[in-house]
Amino acid sequence: MKRVRFKGIGRSIFLMFVVTTPAQLIAQGDATAGAKTFSTNCSGCHGSDGRGGERAPNIATARNISSLAEKDLSNIVRNGVTGSGMPSFSFLGDKGIADVVAYLRVLQGKTSDAKITGNPEAGHALFFGQAGCSTCHMVSGLGGFMASDLTDYASGIAPTAIYKAIVEPAEVVPAGSQVVELVAASGLKITGILRSEDNFNVIIQTRDGRFQRYAKSSLKKLDYTGRSLMPIDYKTRLSAEQLNDIVGYLMRSASTIDPANQKKKRRGE
Ligand code: HEC
Ligand code: HEC
Repeated sequence: MKRVRFKGIGRSIFLMFVVTTPAQLIAQGDATAGAKTFSTNCSGCHGSDGRGGERAPNIATARNISSLAEKDLSNIVRNGVTGSGMPSFSFLGDKGIADVVAYLRVLQGKTSDAKITGNPEAGHALFFGQAGCSTCHMVSGLGGFMASDLTDYASGIAPTAIYKAIVEPAEVVPAGSQVVELVAASGLKITGILRSEDNFNVIIQTRDGRFQRYAKSSLKKLDYTGRSLMPIDYKTRLSAEQLNDIVGYLMRSASTIDPANQKKKRRGE
């Protein structure tokens, strides 16, 4: 477990108490404004849903972070974490920091709207039918294996954030999920998921599930698409009601699994 050192904590406490009290900071935080700040300043490292990217850890569902008080989160954002890759965002100002912390709370599912709104039954039918989610994702042991298992994805995350993850897939593709297009020595074009790579080789997984290894020097072309397989057009392909139903289905799935596993996931293990 890493320890957080607060450099310049004296100054920020001074500022917080003089300019505004922590209680006011919470009240002032505007999650909508914070969402913009987050996507500009944080999602590049932490992922657009805060669940971690290649450069920074999960700060949405990791329990040791979501259990922190507003004051502590504000301090981390203001001061950064000395000696790690977490920069200081003091330039956002008190209001900007309060806003981004308010949005972080939304990502952490700590908002009051965490009740199931859609129709989980209809969502289940869509997931395994018309919406085609199950061609890539698994829930409770059924579905595809090309993308992550969503059985308990919805635990500890707000419905709005689940919705967002479906209609606006992460700009930062998780490690091991990027789609690459390559042209082999024979001229054969192959599209697959870049599961691993070093200076000399790439290992990709094609849609049929097979893993293939290529020496980079043997390839005529290797294009990194910067995308994952997650479709980007669900906002237009599905109605708001259908999306809501799918969110409801994922929430119900997460709420019915073994609580011991749920806890594990929230701790970010
Ligand atoms: C350049 C990459 C980068 C950016 C941009 C970034 N972070 Fe971080 N962040 C990190 C890293 C790396 C850590 C892990 C620090 C550590 O080792 O404890 C971290 C840790 C954190 C933590 C947890 C600190 C802890 O106790 O471990 C919070 C909360 C956090 N970041 C919030 C934010 C917010 C909010 C933003 C946007 C305003 C942001 N970060 C932008 C890299 C980044
Ligand atoms: C063609 C394959 C494909 C289809 C179809 C697909 N997804 Fe995805 N999805 C992915 C990939 C790849 C990712 C990114 C990395 C991962 O989660 O494996 C992703 C990411 C996600 C995430 C974020 C997961 C996380 O851990 O951050 C959610 C939520 C999600 N998809 C839900 C859905 C839902 C709901 C549907 C149907 C409406 C759907 N997906 C359809 C491939 C797909």
